[in-house]
Amino acid sequence: MSTARLVLDPAFRIAPVRRRTFGSFVEHLGRCVYTGIHDPGHPSADEDGFRGDVLGLVRELGISTVRYPGGNFVSGYRWEDGIGPVSERPTRLDLAWHSTEPNTVGVDEFMRWCAKAGVEPMMALNLGTRGVAEALDLLEYCNIPGGSTWSDLRRKNGAEQPHDVRMWCLGNEMDGPWQTGHKTPAEYGRLAAETARAMRQMQPDLELVACGSSSSSMPTFGEWERVVLTEAYEQVDYISAHAYYWETDGDLASFLGSAIDMDRFVESVVSTADAVRAAGRHTKRINISFDEWNVWYLDGAASKPPTDSWPVAPVLLEDHYSVADAVVVGNLLISLLRHSDRVHAASLAQLVNVIAPIMTEPGGRIWKQTTFHPFALTSRYAVGDVLEVRLDTPSHTTAKFGDTPLVDAVATWDEASGAMSVFVVNRSVDEATSLDVAVHGSAGLHLVEAVTMASEDPYAKSTVDDDTSLAPRPNDTASVVDGRLQVDLPPVSWTMLRLEP
Ligand code: AHR
Repeated sequence: MSTARLVLDPAFRIAPVRRRTFGSFVEHLGRCVYTGIHDPGHPSADEDGFRGDVLGLVRELGISTVRYPGGNFVSGYRWEDGIGPVSERPTRLDLAWHSTEPNTVGVDEFMRWCAKAGVEPMMALNLGTRGVAEALDLLEYCNIPGGSTWSDLRRKNGAEQPHDVRMWCLGNEMDGPWQTGHKTPAEYGRLAAETARAMRQMQPDLELVACGSSSSSMPTFGEWERVVLTEAYEQVDYISAHAYYWETDGDLASFLGSAIDMDRFVESVVSTADAVRAAGRHTKRINISFDEWNVWYLDGAASKPPTDSWPVAPVLLEDHYSVADAVVVGNLLISLLRHSDRVHAASLAQLVNVIAPIMTEPGGRIWKQTTFHPFALTSRYAVGDVLEVRLDTPSHTTAKFGDTPLVDAVATWDEASGAMSVFVVNRSVDEATSLDVAVHGSAGLHLVEAVTMASEDPYAKSTVDDDTSLAPRPNDTASVVDGRLQVDLPPVSWTMLRLEP
């Protein structure tokens, strides 16, 4: 068995673990909202129609922020449709997902749901079919205590206190030709800057996210970020990044290396933002809101209803995830954490039913996908500061990445408690690797937990009837020998090791 060696030292801190790394995303898409978070006929539904079982799993997943209401949906959305008495709300055609939007859930319901889930709302604005005026109206509705038309309307609608939304996305994927009202980088950069400037006139201390590229494979990637940030640098705080990964042509080895692509993506966006900083003689830094990321088999699940129908809450993008998919999700979180110096927020896309860790039957059962587990454990145990690790790992050759490290890892250390957590993947498709961990500068740590997610069949999936068999299990090979932690990592596996004083 080959061996990977990991050296950890609490002195090598990258940045604090940012709770917003563990955000997610609720879009009016498919069954994410209707029969997902909202299902009034469900036995666990509360007085607002929200499923209690979903709220329970959202808390267990450790979600920090939730981006809403889209996604592509937001670029045609009129937020005013979703306020006031539900019976008087209009029914609209949603062009993005060729669906009918009943507007039963809108901004006030979403804010109530966030309070129940214990998450921070992150609102996206429509800069596709709308602009500065509508963004200001929504900001006034959400954040102004009272004494103006929109804020008083919110109070009349039952929300006496302001929603106090801090983070706002200035549109969604405006580089994409599929986006309603998509724009050139110069057009969008100008609109983003004008919208941000006006929003700050109403409330200066907002945190504003400009749209970056919808993927690093877009022909305009790089130039889009450069032009948008040149227009909007002083007005915004973040540039967004979106990335989805999937296995193609049975090439599991390349798929397992997906975090390499995420690393390069983040580093390219950081370089571009810093180049604009230098060229414009700016002092502040622009950080990344990685506000859509996940495994998504774009070609494997229905992505739009037939063009002759406009269903309400159709089954769309209901990907069914395997152990290999969960290992990739765990590795993508490792990549996000290691870039915590510049990635200040992230959103797993999405939360319920739509490319999601949580699945529901309408009016019925709820279950966890495989991807639920690495996310929940990382969110719970990545605490304190992210450590820079020294990793000496064997590698193998993959079609997509060439020489590819077999093992990838990140660690966190909580100065207050002295607890250390290590998150590690073995990307080999067929070979176990042993991991040897040396912890410097923190004598006396002992192993309190070692769990591994793996399966004889990397394509094994959880189901509504059995969502526990594939959950991470204690890894009995883990031990501390002569002050060094050793553990065997099965092929296609994700592992968490926890040490305490
Ligand atoms: O998350 C699904 C879709 O992916 C979102 O609506 C869009 O922003 C992205 O292309």
